[in-house]
Amino acid sequence: MSSKTVVITGCTRGLGQAMIPLFVKAGWKVAGCARDAQRLTDMSKLHPAPHWFTRCNVAIEEEVAAFCAGVLERFGTPDLVLNNAAIIHPNAPLWETSAADFGRIIDINIKGPAAMMRHLLPAMLKRGEGVIVNFSSGWGRCTAAEVAPYCATKYAIEGLSMATAQDTGGKVAVIPVNPGIIDTDMLRSTFGDNAGDFPDAKTWAKKAVPFFMKLGPKDNGRPLTVPGG
Ligand SMILES: NC(=O)c1ccc[n+]([C@@H]2O[C@H](COP(=O)([O-])OP(=O)(O)OC[C@H]3O[C@@H](n4cnc5c(N)ncnc54)[C@H](OP(=O)(O)O)[C@@H]3O)[C@@H](O)[C@H]2O)c1
Repeated sequence: MSSKTVVITGCTRGLGQAMIPLFVKAGWKVAGCARDAQRLTDMSKLHPAPHWFTRCNVAIEEEVAAFCAGVLERFGTPDLVLNNAAIIHPNAPLWETSAADFGRIIDINIKGPAAMMRHLLPAMLKRGEGVIVNFSSGWGRCTAAEVAPYCATKYAIEGLSMATAQDTGGKVAVIPVNPGIIDTDMLRSTFGDNAGDFPDAKTWAKKAVPFFMKLGPKDNGRPLTVPGG
């Protein structure tokens, strides 16, 4: 059994939620955040202390600062940070996407992981180890119609991660990871019922969690894909 700590943003649904039981079963302590208060309460009942599930909108700098301070106080420096929280917009060409919707996806998908790294990297660098995974996408490496703002955020995640990896020099590995294509609320919003052709989040998590647990300095700055993804 491990006594390691994993931080997961976007823990109430989809991939974030599906990974939690596997980390818990392996003996990891889990700190998770999202916005849905009721789901967070339910998760706290399902996985009580030492695990910690709390409200934090990753788009709001002050909330990220408070969440990260809480993580460091309760758990010490985390071993693994999974910057998983993100949104997608309704399918549409850019010129039919409002400035407000564009701003919202930038704030959550880019500024969120950047803020998490800003608040956790100093402690992780001081300790001299740890891994940060920034969730990218197939649409962070190639493009598609009607998802330009989402693609822009995931291409940004690739650049943000690789450049930050150069700054850490591998003491703390910063890695952009494409999770693959998985049937979640997010996929249903873009693919509709065709999302059912893809594996569900629980099936995905069985491959993804062992893969994340094994990441280390050798992976710093390397764009990776979850096996089978
Ligand atoms: N599913 C796929 O096929 C696929 C493919 C490529 C990449 N990805 C990436 O994988 C990650 C997970 O996707 P998913 O399919 O699991 O999405 P999902 O089912 O829509 O779940 C997203 C999670 O993020 C949380 N979240 C959203 N906005 C947030 C915010 N501002 N602050 C904090 N938490 C927030 C949501 O919880 P609340 O609503 O409670 O805040 C939810 O728990 C994302 O980065 C996504 O871009 C997914």
